[in-house]
Amino acid sequence: MKAIAIVGSPREKGNTEILARHTLKAIEEEGLDTELISLADLDIKPCNTCMVCKKEERCPIDDDLFPIYIKMKEADAIILASPVYFGSATALLKALMERAGYIAYWNGRAFEGKVGGPLVVARRAGQNFTLSQLAYWFYIMGCFVPGSTYWNIAFGERKGEVEKDEEGLKTAWNFGKNVALLVKKLKT
Ligand SMILES: Cc1cc2nc3c(=O)[nH]c(=O)nc-3n(C[C@H](O)[C@H](O)[C@H](O)COP(=O)(O)O)c2cc1C
Repeated sequence: MKAIAIVGSPREKGNTEILARHTLKAIEEEGLDTELISLADLDIKPCNTCMVCKKEERCPIDDDLFPIYIKMKEADAIILASPVYFGSATALLKALMERAGYIAYWNGRAFEGKVGGPLVVARRAGQNFTLSQLAYWFYIMGCFVPGSTYWNIAFGERKGEVEKDEEGLKTAWNFGKNVALLVKKLKT
């Protein structure tokens, strides 16, 4: 059983990555394998509507997307984590959601029945909108989305600042516990 967290911040080792690692630690404690995939420095281009993926399980755009799609397909749980950029998820994460989502959608609904959910960090505002934006992706993918003790949001601006948001960390931790619990219930 495996959970992956995809971090959509272009800033390496930033607040979103810290929060996602925290969630993965809670999942690991429950005996699942975990992997964090940072999109920082990866090349993920936008979808160009070529529609090749409607006929074949592939994307002809030559970049870093497809190996991540395969990891998503193999995982039992997928976490999408984003900082808020202008009130929204980052363009980098949106590009991955759109392309991986379309390949999965047209090829046997490849993410159906997986466990998943969002994590969001911002300096001040936009967390709830971004959380909903990411949650909609999980719903259309047919994933099971567990809750936590609050919405999965946290506060932080400069690198590492999220570590001061105790409630945010606790929420991310409890979300991880619920992800692991649900994966185990579904798989055993
Ligand atoms: C281009 C850009 C846009 C941002 N827009 C918002 C915003 O709309 N609301 C907000 O509260 N913070 C905003 N921020 C701040 C980030 O969400 C915040 O610094 C976050 O901790 C960054 O996460 P990271 O360290 O994982 O990159 C923005 C930052 C950047 C670089």
